[in-house]
Amino acid sequence: MKRTLTNILVTGGAGFIGANFIHFLFNKTDFQGRIINLDALTYAGNLESLKDIDLKFGINTLGKTKAKYIFEYADITDKDAVNRIFKEYSIDTVVHFAAESHVDRSILGPEAFIKTNIIGTFNLLETARNFWKTSDSSIRQDVLFHHVSTDEVYGSLGETGYFEETTPYDPRSPYSSSKASSDHLVCSYSHTYELPITLSNCSNNYGPFQFPEKLIPLMILNILGGKPLPIYGDGKNVRDWLYVEDHNNAVWTIMNKGKIGEKYNIGGENEWQNIKLLEKLIDFVAKEINKDSAEIKKTIKWVQDRPGHDRRYAINCNKLKNELGWSQKYTFEEGLLATVKWYLSNPNWVANVQSGEYANWIKNNYENR
Ligand code: NAD
Ligand code: DAU
Repeated sequence: MKRTLTNILVTGGAGFIGANFIHFLFNKTDFQGRIINLDALTYAGNLESLKDIDLKFGINTLGKTKAKYIFEYADITDKDAVNRIFKEYSIDTVVHFAAESHVDRSILGPEAFIKTNIIGTFNLLETARNFWKTSDSSIRQDVLFHHVSTDEVYGSLGETGYFEETTPYDPRSPYSSSKASSDHLVCSYSHTYELPITLSNCSNNYGPFQFPEKLIPLMILNILGGKPLPIYGDGKNVRDWLYVEDHNNAVWTIMNKGKIGEKYNIGGENEWQNIKLLEKLIDFVAKEINKDSAEIKKTIKWVQDRPGHDRRYAINCNKLKNELGWSQKYTFEEGLLATVKWYLSNPNWVANVQSGEYANWIKNNYENR
């Protein structure tokens, strides 16, 4: 059955990948529908990342009935709020990015991960199941719940091999366990209730609007600030890096053409040891700011390893390539250069997310209303 894809609920749209997804849909596809961005604006969510979209497609410019972009300040664990939003905007599609996403934070305080990633996903699924029920109690089949997940659910690889869609789950951090749990819930709603779902498991993303706690933006900003560059353990852990627009292009491809009830791996086919990646990144930044890269490399600091640090992630994304015709558009060099340039040209965005000033702005504009 043809998918409607008209009133799309994007959860976590103010975060790194979600904000890039909204830009991608409006700027790089022929999407004609409406996006409702539901976000709780945690430390990782930033509406500044969507200022241009709001100006062009938002309520203040087009009015509430014609707006193509609407922001809803809400928590996915809040049943009443999620229910109201489904009804108010006649949601026919969900693309679920909202999550607590940082492994180190999950080690320090797992509770928020359980609440948002497991209970929040459950709440969205229940709301969708009830809202999309027809008069004969079956579920509409022109709707879609796309769940955005991670390759970390598969565990850790040795020096060889790849994660396939059929690789058994073996999550090892509170973060990856909570994502694995949400994946299982999503699949169970497909099997048990015939909720039309698709699911994607992606490797490490990088690009604009990423909160500077993750490796690449943290290192760029530490280089610019002359701070030490902390490398965990022996620096030989391997990640498979993908430019965020390529991830979002894959998500949109799956939402349009993916088989209902199926999961797809998304990857960069671009494996790097952390230390090698850092050396490359230093060369790129040094060139942009006319500094001596050898001097910057002296600021690399070997620090204690992350507890339970997964050794290697590597994705086999042949299913997505062969069945749906997706492929990566950006080389690592192109993506890395675009990312470095973005952080260099957006000091205000960086200052706001780092200073906590943005948190005050949320309090004044949303929480005290
Ligand atoms: P992020 O941390 O940058 O953004 C998360 C967003 O979710 C923020 O805007 C935050 O405010 C919002 N949020 C958090 N808790 C919420 C709640 N309870 N209710 C409503 N909104 C809430 O994350 P990201 O890196 O953009 O990741 C997005 C999704 O992609 C996550 O599901 C993550 O697991 C997955 N993923 C990320 C990567 C990566 O490399 N970053 C790779 C593969 C998959
Ligand atoms: O694989 C997909 C996952 O990638 C996503 O599901 C997660 O949401 C996302 O955060 C990311 O997880 P990682 O733990 O791989 O990303 P992070 O940027 O935190 O770390 C990348 C690697 O760099 C990892 O091996 C740890 C290491 N590292 C990280 C930081 C922040 C360091 O050596 N030093 C650092 O300061």
